[in-house]
Amino acid sequence: MLVLTGISTLVTNDTTLERGKLGIIENAALVVGNDNKIAFAGETANLPREYKSNAIDLNGRAIIPGFVDSHTHLVFGGDRAEEFEARMSGKPYTAGGIRTTVAATRNSNNDALVANARRLANEALHTGTTTLETKSGYGLSVLDETRSLQVANAITSETTFLGAHVVPAESQINEYVDLICGEMLDNCALHAKWIDVFCDRGAFEVDHARAILQAGAKAGLGLRIHANQLQHGGGVQLGVELGVASCDHCTHLDSADIDALADTKGRTVATLLPTAELCTRSQFPDARRLIDAGVTVALASDCNPGSSYTTSMPLAISLAVLNMKMTCDEAVWSATAGGAAALRRSDIGNLAVGSHADFAVLNSRSHIHLAYRPGVKLVDAVFVRGQLAAGSLR
Ligand code: NIG
Ligand code: FE
Repeated sequence: MLVLTGISTLVTNDTTLERGKLGIIENAALVVGNDNKIAFAGETANLPREYKSNAIDLNGRAIIPGFVDSHTHLVFGGDRAEEFEARMSGKPYTAGGIRTTVAATRNSNNDALVANARRLANEALHTGTTTLETKSGYGLSVLDETRSLQVANAITSETTFLGAHVVPAESQINEYVDLICGEMLDNCALHAKWIDVFCDRGAFEVDHARAILQAGAKAGLGLRIHANQLQHGGGVQLGVELGVASCDHCTHLDSADIDALADTKGRTVATLLPTAELCTRSQFPDARRLIDAGVTVALASDCNPGSSYTTSMPLAISLAVLNMKMTCDEAVWSATAGGAAALRRSDIGNLAVGSHADFAVLNSRSHIHLAYRPGVKLVDAVFVRGQLAAGSLR
C-alpha cells in the first residue's frame, strides 16, 4: 500500500468525477492498493482514516497519469545522424531513408537490438512514459521482421507488425505484398497484437494497404495505419473504412478526412506526432480543427532514428500547445487518456479507482508546466503498477 498526500494538482482523467475531462482534484491524496491499482483518488481532507498512517507528503507537487506513447519504432540498429544533418542543410525527408536503418538492423544481433530498445524505453520511462507501443518495420524479411517482434515483446505487450513500412531494396512491390500477407504474416502474427501499414508517398498505396490490413485482421490482429504524413492521400479514409484503432500522423487532411474521423465517434483516434514534424521541419497537423470537429486526438513520440529521434512526451505536449493550438489540458489528456484510446485500453492513461497505478510525480504544482516550461526536466518520479520505477520522491 502506498499513500501520497499533499498533491497540489491530481490529474485523474476520470470523467465520472464531473470535474472536466481531466478530472482534476486539488489538495489531493492518492492511494495505491496491494493489487497495485488505484484504491483512492480524492481530496486529502476526505482521505479515509485507515490510510492516514504512513502517508508520504508531496509538498504541493502535481501527479498525472503516466504517458501512453502509442506510436514508437524502437527496434532498430544504427542511427541516421548524417541523414539528419543533410536534412538540416536543405535535403528533404523521404520514406526511402528507412532502407538505411533496414540494413543496420539486419546486421544487428538480437541482443544488440534488445539493448537498444531497452535503452530507449528506459529513456522514455524517465520522462514519464509508463506504457509504450512499438513496431517492427526495419527488418522487412520473414526472419528479420519475426525477430524484430521478438525483440519488441521484450519491452512491451503493445507490439505492432509493420512489415509494410517500405518495400525492401531487393523486392518488387507485388511480390513483397504477397510475402507480407502470406509467410511473413503467418510468422509475425504470433508475436504481435497489431498490424500497421505506412500508406504514403514512397511507401504503400491504398489498395496494397487495404489488402495487408485485411489479411492482418483475418489473422486476428488489431489495425492501425500511418496515414497522410508526407502528402494528402487516401490513408485516413482507408483507416476509417476498416475501423482502425488509430490513424497516425494526420498531417495533410482535407475536410472529408476530418468529417470521416469525427463520424467514428472516437472509435478511430487521430494520433498526432509533432516531434516528427519538428525533426523534419514540416508543417504541424491542424490539431485545433480535428478537436473542434469532435475527433479524439492522441499525442505520441514516433520515436525512430529517421524522422523523430526522441522519446519525450513532454516535448510532444509543448509542441502541441505552442505550435498546434491545443490547450494545456487537451495536450495532457491526449498524451495520456488519448494514447490509451489509440490502444483501445481503459485500464491505463487515467487514475480512476481500479485503474493501474501508473503515474508521474512532477516537480511543479500543476500539469500546465509541461507545456509552459519546454525542454525542462519536470518529472521527479515515475511509478509503474504502484512501484517506483524511475527517479525518487526526495
Ligand atoms: O512514422 N512514417 C513512417 N515511419 C516513420 C519514419 C521511419 C524512418 O524514417 O525511419 C515515421 O515517421
Ligand atoms: Fe511511425
